[in-house]
Amino acid sequence: MLKAEYEALANHGRPKGVIMCRNLSKYAPLFLLLALSGLIFLLRNIHTLENLSCHTASTLFQLQNSIHTAFAQKGPLPPYHNDTFCSHLGLELTADEALEDRYLLNAIAWPKLPARPAPAPLRQTSDPVHSLFAILPSKGRREWHVGDQLEALVQMHDFQGRPKRYGGDFLVARLHSPELGAGVAGRVVDHLNGFYSALFPLLWQGTVEVVITMVHSSEAVAVLQRLQEQRPDRVFFKSLFRSGFLSETTLCNMCLPPNQPQEPLCNYTDLHTGEPWYCLKPKMLSCDTRINHAKGGYQKHLITNKEALLFQSGVNIKVVIHASGPDRINVLPKKIDESELENVSIKPEPVKYTPSGYYYRGSWRSFGGTTSRQFNDSSSITQCLTGKVIHMYGDSTVRQWFEYLNAFVPEIKEFNLHSPKNVGPFMAVDSKHNILLKYRCHGPPIRFSTVSTSELRYVANELDGLPGGPDTVVVLSIWAHFSTFPVEVYIRRMRHIRRALVRLLDRSPGTLVVIRSANLQALDQEVSLYNSDWFSLQRDRVLRPMFMGLGVVFVDAWEMTLAHNLPHQLHPPPAIIKNMMDLILSHVCPTKKKKS
Ligand SMILES: *[C@@H]1O[C@H](CO)[C@@H](O)[C@H](O)[C@H]1NC(C)=O
Ligand SMILES: *[C@@H]1O[C@H](CO)[C@@H](O)[C@H](O)[C@H]1NC(C)=O
Ligand SMILES: *[C@@H]1O[C@H](CO)[C@@H](O)[C@H](O)[C@H]1NC(C)=O
Ligand SMILES: *[C@@H]1O[C@H](CO)[C@@H](O)[C@H](O)[C@H]1NC(C)=O
Repeated sequence: MLKAEYEALANHGRPKGVIMCRNLSKYAPLFLLLALSGLIFLLRNIHTLENLSCHTASTLFQLQNSIHTAFAQKGPLPPYHNDTFCSHLGLELTADEALEDRYLLNAIAWPKLPARPAPAPLRQTSDPVHSLFAILPSKGRREWHVGDQLEALVQMHDFQGRPKRYGGDFLVARLHSPELGAGVAGRVVDHLNGFYSALFPLLWQGTVEVVITMVHSSEAVAVLQRLQEQRPDRVFFKSLFRSGFLSETTLCNMCLPPNQPQEPLCNYTDLHTGEPWYCLKPKMLSCDTRINHAKGGYQKHLITNKEALLFQSGVNIKVVIHASGPDRINVLPKKIDESELENVSIKPEPVKYTPSGYYYRGSWRSFGGTTSRQFNDSSSITQCLTGKVIHMYGDSTVRQWFEYLNAFVPEIKEFNLHSPKNVGPFMAVDSKHNILLKYRCHGPPIRFSTVSTSELRYVANELDGLPGGPDTVVVLSIWAHFSTFPVEVYIRRMRHIRRALVRLLDRSPGTLVVIRSANLQALDQEVSLYNSDWFSLQRDRVLRPMFMGLGVVFVDAWEMTLAHNLPHQLHPPPAIIKNMMDLILSHVCPTKKKKS
């Protein structure tokens, strides 16, 4: 049954694959078949193991207090890299915090490249054009029904057409039916030997097409990993100090100075949260004359010429991998043989991957428990938001929501606070319906043009100043400006915000909290080094477990951008923003359940 798939993989006729196939064509089907039968067994076991650890993960974070218990049950965690980034400047972690860090970092640990004397030359790195995928039969048959899971097996090759023997490539997968406006994000499992599985739930009937994209090769990820740990200064910041007719600008960052330890510093560590921030002390002025904070710029020459070859648009950044055979299947209606279904549910099935939602007829259907409603006209939004205060905090990806409501609902009028463009803070009101909308950017390391010191606030501190209540909606999106720091920095920030949210929800349990995750964006070489989706993925992956069990609403921007047909953009296009707004408003104004 699988022989056909593998013959197809080995004998496919696309021009670039021919070189490899000619040499292998005689024996390849046999070898591949042998390898595959072993692999399939391995696969099933991997699935089971993953299931276990996922389950442990969710229980672990549902109750913050039970961390120790859960940890003891699970046995010692493997060590992770000892990251001493800014350890001399930040606050020391408590034992529980260190444990949580370790747990989260282990959960997102990326496979390391095999040790070798010198970095691989480009020709031995992953090449999406030579790589292939095949749709595997379902339960031995090429027949799929709604409710089944589709599995596509990917085999990575290098630029010479040779199969890769290790994992670590960053692949993303999507299943879609463009004519139905339907799409869902797939889950990619790395088998660490050059093979990957992309898993998709089959949620609708009709023809579905598999799209698998290599975002970065494993070799490129290794470069990003190094930058993440060793070059947190690759985006730098500055502050203007001014008093009377004197003014000076100095360099600022979370961790300073990396190479001039003698220079005196101004310590702007936040007294409430302990979030560290430093500037080099101005020569003439005192530290309390800092009047603003701004992005300084981007460090250049971060990678060698050889490494730059790993980041070529159209070659090895976000390039689609082709199928060896068909890339689409026809999904039949759900099977309704009750007795068979019963038996299936007892069998130890491979882990089913459950996405957070999917698109159908262009609209996002969330599995989040609330019926998705559509707010197509502004009056339905006004009706929903009447009497509400909506506080939005974060980066420009949450500002997009402020802008959407402000533009789409004519009754909501922006109140001119004379704030700098794109920076804020912003406020909009509909006094007739008592709607108040506010936006404020998060604190350092915000990369906005210039934020006045008086407006530079940490989200956790802002949350502590909110009374909250059933008419308050708090919306958070904090991710994009953390991509140049180690993940620990992001975890620490999120932990401070989580504490403030717990306090808010304790004093005002009716407050609705919405958290938006990271999304995919357009990448070229330059963007990759500072803001790659790989950095975003790491942050997306730690966010959910950290807030699990708090009763907050997640807007899974990762899946909502991955599952959609439109090209990836840092600021997702209006069609996606509308779906995000619909999801939020569906939680603000859930449909009344009929009592029966
Ligand atoms: C990390 O390394 C530093 C210096 O090598 C050491 O002092 C510190 O104890 C280590 N931290 C952990 C958590 O192992
Ligand atoms: C900066 O200030 C914080 C809070 O007062 C303190 O804990 C930290 O040690 C200071 N950092 C340095 C380098 O002195
Ligand atoms: C389901 O399992 C029961 C008990 O093992 C068996 O009697 C029955 O025939 C099975 N039904 C189907 C459709 O396989
Ligand atoms: C909203 O618009 C979409 C697309 O035009 C349409 O399919 C849907 O039925 C509309 N929903 C409501 C509640 O008006």
